[in-house]
Amino acid sequence: MRFQVDGEAVDRAARPGQCLRTLLRETGHQAPKKGCDAGDCGACTVLVDGAAVHSCVYPAHRAEGHTITTAAGLGTAEPTDLQRRFIENAAFQCGFCTAGMLVTATELERTGDLTPATLPEKLKGNLCRCTGYRAITDALTSGRPGCAPNDATVPCGSRSDGVGAGVGALAGGRIVRGVEPFTMDVDMGEQDSGKVPPGEVLRLEVVRSPHAHARIVSIDTAGAEAVPGVRAVFTHADVPDLLYSTARHEIREDDPDDTVMLDRIVRFRGQRVAAVVADSLAAARAGCRAIRVEYELLPAVFDPEEALAEQAPLLHAEKGPESRIADPGRNVVAAAQGRVGDVTAGLSAAVEVVQGEWRTHRVQHVHLETHGSIGWLDRDGRLVLRTSTQVPFLVRDELCRLFGLERSGIRVFATRVGSGFGAKQEMFTEDLVALAVLKTGLPVQYELTRSDEFLTTCRHPMRVRVTAGADADGLLTALAVDVLADAGAYGNHSAGVLFHGVGESVAIYRCPNKRVDGHAVYTNNVPSGAFRGYGLGQVMFGVESALDELARRIGMDPFEFRRRNLVRAGDELIGGAGHAEPDLTIASYGLDQCLDLAEQALRRGNGVPAPGPDWLIGEGMAPAMIATVPPRGHTSTAHATLLADGTVELRAGTAEFGNGTTTVLAQIAATVLGTDIAHIVIRHADTDVTAHDTGAFGSTGITVAGRAVHAACAQLREHVLRRAVALTGADADRHIFEPGGIRVDGRFLTAATLVADGELTATATHDGTPRSVSFNVHAFRVAVQPDTGEVRILHSVQAADAGTVLNPVQCRGQVEGGVAQAIGSALYEEIRVEQGEVRTKTLRHYHLPQLSDLPRTEVLFAETADPLGPLGAKSMSESPYNPVAPALANAIRDAIGVRPQQLPMTADRIWRLLRDARTTAAPHLGVRG
Ligand code: FES
Repeated sequence: MRFQVDGEAVDRAARPGQCLRTLLRETGHQAPKKGCDAGDCGACTVLVDGAAVHSCVYPAHRAEGHTITTAAGLGTAEPTDLQRRFIENAAFQCGFCTAGMLVTATELERTGDLTPATLPEKLKGNLCRCTGYRAITDALTSGRPGCAPNDATVPCGSRSDGVGAGVGALAGGRIVRGVEPFTMDVDMGEQDSGKVPPGEVLRLEVVRSPHAHARIVSIDTAGAEAVPGVRAVFTHADVPDLLYSTARHEIREDDPDDTVMLDRIVRFRGQRVAAVVADSLAAARAGCRAIRVEYELLPAVFDPEEALAEQAPLLHAEKGPESRIADPGRNVVAAAQGRVGDVTAGLSAAVEVVQGEWRTHRVQHVHLETHGSIGWLDRDGRLVLRTSTQVPFLVRDELCRLFGLERSGIRVFATRVGSGFGAKQEMFTEDLVALAVLKTGLPVQYELTRSDEFLTTCRHPMRVRVTAGADADGLLTALAVDVLADAGAYGNHSAGVLFHGVGESVAIYRCPNKRVDGHAVYTNNVPSGAFRGYGLGQVMFGVESALDELARRIGMDPFEFRRRNLVRAGDELIGGAGHAEPDLTIASYGLDQCLDLAEQALRRGNGVPAPGPDWLIGEGMAPAMIATVPPRGHTSTAHATLLADGTVELRAGTAEFGNGTTTVLAQIAATVLGTDIAHIVIRHADTDVTAHDTGAFGSTGITVAGRAVHAACAQLREHVLRRAVALTGADADRHIFEPGGIRVDGRFLTAATLVADGELTATATHDGTPRSVSFNVHAFRVAVQPDTGEVRILHSVQAADAGTVLNPVQCRGQVEGGVAQAIGSALYEEIRVEQGEVRTKTLRHYHLPQLSDLPRTEVLFAETADPLGPLGAKSMSESPYNPVAPALANAIRDAIGVRPQQLPMTADRIWRLLRDARTTAAPHLGVRG
């Protein structure tokens, strides 16, 4: 079969049933990405004779005689105008969607459909999880750089590329052509040592449990072993007899050891039972189908409240104290209690008390790049893993433990990762790939499908009970929070999510009497895990809804109520632990500015009218706070080296998955060293190349790795200056750093001269402590259709205190992306589960937000500088998510007079609330006044 791809003739037969995307990728054209396999996400979009198609649902054999164009073939050496506009507008974060998006846009440009009016309809087949679409819309429709007037509080669009400049992603030119290598793009010229060895890569697939709770009586693998192409079959008899957690933290004991690579007991529908390694994915899947498993069914429990009951089935009763499960005899993974003052007395002193219960749901991360790993043995017999991870060093360390290897015996690295949102702070593929490589000695690849992702992890659903009282002046007298989190079948991240969830959500308020009770409980549901915000979003939904109601009862404006009660500069932060954490302070304070900025923007309005006269209009807001670094240790070591050609090589272990750290770290280095960003090269996320880094989670890319880079570059600067003075005898005060070298007393010394007498290099470590806090305030004006329950967002504003905004364009993108993800999960996204069985296994059933679903959010930045952050910066990755659901709920409450207390706030739920309110006189929340 012959066809043309990006101007090259290709002669390759299509396999029966093969899709065009697979054929293209197998022939080295890897700009089309694999995001869903169902024609939903558009990451695989290509042009066939000029018409855009989703190549994952386009039969490969139909390509015969046709001309295929991928993103790599859109431009020549120079990017097209559209590609250039994507770079200038920072219209991507991870960039996994970008190649497909640009291909579709190219066709729309040809047909004249690149207009604000047509895009929502025409681009609905291309999903982006990271950006919220604003920057994409700007890039496609106007070409304006990504600074809107509302960003006037920060410098933007500077021609400089140091700190404060809106520098586009360093990899931008490659991303818009689809040639920046992601995990599975293996032949695209990445660093030499990261290339998969030549020859076939075996494929791994798993058998998953159809039962929610069962003991495996027997597994017959003979059928699988007889399938042509099958090389190996693994069951519980073949894996290390060691318990571990898929969750990864600096201190591995922070998570319970309750998981076995392939267990004899299955505890949720979808759990791995066996793995098959074969020459092809088709053979591996055929092998999986040929395995016969006999199960003994066990009683299952799906509701966390029922899981706590006396006679409930126990999921991990056999585990001992070494597993660090809080109470395996009651299904309790982790418990949190904290007290300060006397809540009972505080409630007695209140003139108004609100008491209520809020429920949050299962949400999927939907990073467009699914989890995947490729492993092989290098020339020295060392295990090498190329994997989609946020935590390469922690994965390496756990694999060492599981397989009894030394650290020097394993290399783990990540290329650019197609986003993660916390889900790649887990080890979901690396363990089986390592097992298969070590057992077969051959290269092996394992990649989750989109449906697999829905069976693998989600946000912790929570029941949050809040009791809050205030006096006549609107000052809080008591705040009590009771949380029950559904951990699912395994406890990965549950303790951390629980403790964090009741941390800053409670600590953000000044209140003399606080009480926190929390439990994370095992059920036979899909395991919950780390997800942007790490529990705070769920608890804040309850707390901020309750306090909004309290303000309403007292007759106080919600902004004013918050001003009276929120923490101020110099306050201690008393959260769920009941006492201040010793290394957590308000080192800089912009919450007051955030309140003012959001309120002023809401009052100013944006001119968007109500959709019709019968729609109900309401406004709402909510604040949020988050620590800039997680507690209990987060470490990064950076190296900075001046090379003879004038470039500075930075090595930092943190991963780039759309958080923009590689660009911002280069900006920090350029600023400190007085050079430009073109003179900075960065190597990252590779256990062979960089020193230890705990990982890219907890919003630490800038606050920890950035501090290490800043310190290393400051030291390098000193070394360079000393060398220059030694070489010239000039006055050290009369110097200026310039790109490629240093000028001393008017004489320019090139880097080659400077390093001629020896290497100039510096190393610095930051251990993530002490820590500060970031703040966000979100405000909405919404319209609700009373006959249908439909909610439309008329105005969305988020004010953020990110300290010094190192890169306003990227930081704005982070805020917009977090808001977009939060709006999706607040209004409609939901993993629906029946008796532990996931019913929403595709993107079209799950309802990931499309361009047409999301409003434009005004992003405003407070002006602060944090002494604990690099050059004054604070974190801004997770926190924009957290205030959105309660702000939206408060606006809906304002509009309809009834309070939504369950997420997602779908149209049918809102409609039912309105219907019930018409027929029920009883108040929906406990009230005493
Ligand atoms: Fe669109 Fe990451 S940038 S999915």
